[in-house]
Amino acid sequence: MSSSRHRERRFGKRARPQARARASRAFLGLLAGQGVAQADAGGGTPSLFLPVAEPAQSILDYGTLLVLICAVIFVVVMGLLALTVVRFRASAVDDGEEPPQIYGSDQLELAWTVVPVLIVIVLGLITAGRIVALQKDTPPAGSLAVRVVGHQWWWELEYPDHGFVTANELHLPLGQVAFLELESEDVIHSFWLPQLSGKLDVIPNRTNTMWIEPQKTGMFVGQCAEYCGTQHANMLLRVFVHAPEDFERWVRDQQQEARRVAAHAEGRALFATTACVNCHTVRGLSEIGSFGPDLTHLMSRTTLAAGAAVNDEARLVDWLTDPDHIKPGARMPAMKLSDAQIARLAGYLSSLE
Ligand code: CUA
Repeated sequence: MSSSRHRERRFGKRARPQARARASRAFLGLLAGQGVAQADAGGGTPSLFLPVAEPAQSILDYGTLLVLICAVIFVVVMGLLALTVVRFRASAVDDGEEPPQIYGSDQLELAWTVVPVLIVIVLGLITAGRIVALQKDTPPAGSLAVRVVGHQWWWELEYPDHGFVTANELHLPLGQVAFLELESEDVIHSFWLPQLSGKLDVIPNRTNTMWIEPQKTGMFVGQCAEYCGTQHANMLLRVFVHAPEDFERWVRDQQQEARRVAAHAEGRALFATTACVNCHTVRGLSEIGSFGPDLTHLMSRTTLAAGAAVNDEARLVDWLTDPDHIKPGARMPAMKLSDAQIARLAGYLSSLE
């Protein structure tokens, strides 16, 4: 795909959706993704009225079109009703006689049968066209493959063509279609990025597919949209859309094995000899754990515990000491280590850039 074409599309459309978004929000605000919160890690509230990608843009266009068609029908019907009520109300000069009784009118009956049928056919055709465009079972040529696995309560993100796994922060290149395969490790989750795509259930023993073509760089938030247990609300997701060259750089960084900083040798040894490695992979150190997030480049992520906290060393200490303090019910156990051990471990983890 040529980037100039995308730039044209992006800038050509920019004024329209923004203005429309403001108008729509005035009366449809309640339907928007207003419930999406980002704990203390920031990120703001995404609005599905501010799409930054396909298919979110065409879903919004489709919804707006349906609302407009229904609004026209509503105005016509209510207008005729109001007209009838006013025009045929009881008048002072009413003679009390029964009006002429009419039984059957082919024209009227035809009209109120044919017109609704036509409306339903038109709506049906538009809907069918949208569904065909939205659902792709096979990856489009040149698309970026991403495998998304829902866990209680975090997102595993694998880039199979590039050979690495990360968590909770999806990175995508601008203007290239990403083809997502969604699976669940445990219960039903729902993958929702209000500004980028529709909602899609993530179901155990089933692979659902979704595509996204980002049209704007930046960070956009999303979250699990299907109740999946106590920390459902803290199953957040961040999407970073990069210019293609920045995305390539991010991929190259992620492909590296974990850093080995001499100063953190003790912390590394502690990590390798405690239960940490049973759940977490750190490429280049231990690759047996797959129950918890891959920590190879932990510090390249902005949040901890799937968006429950900012990712820094102080929060890591807090998290290692008592995960429930940040995320009650989290699958991560408190390791019952001494303060000194936790400090060493947090120091090591903080070096995994
Ligand atoms: Cu996963 Cu709600």
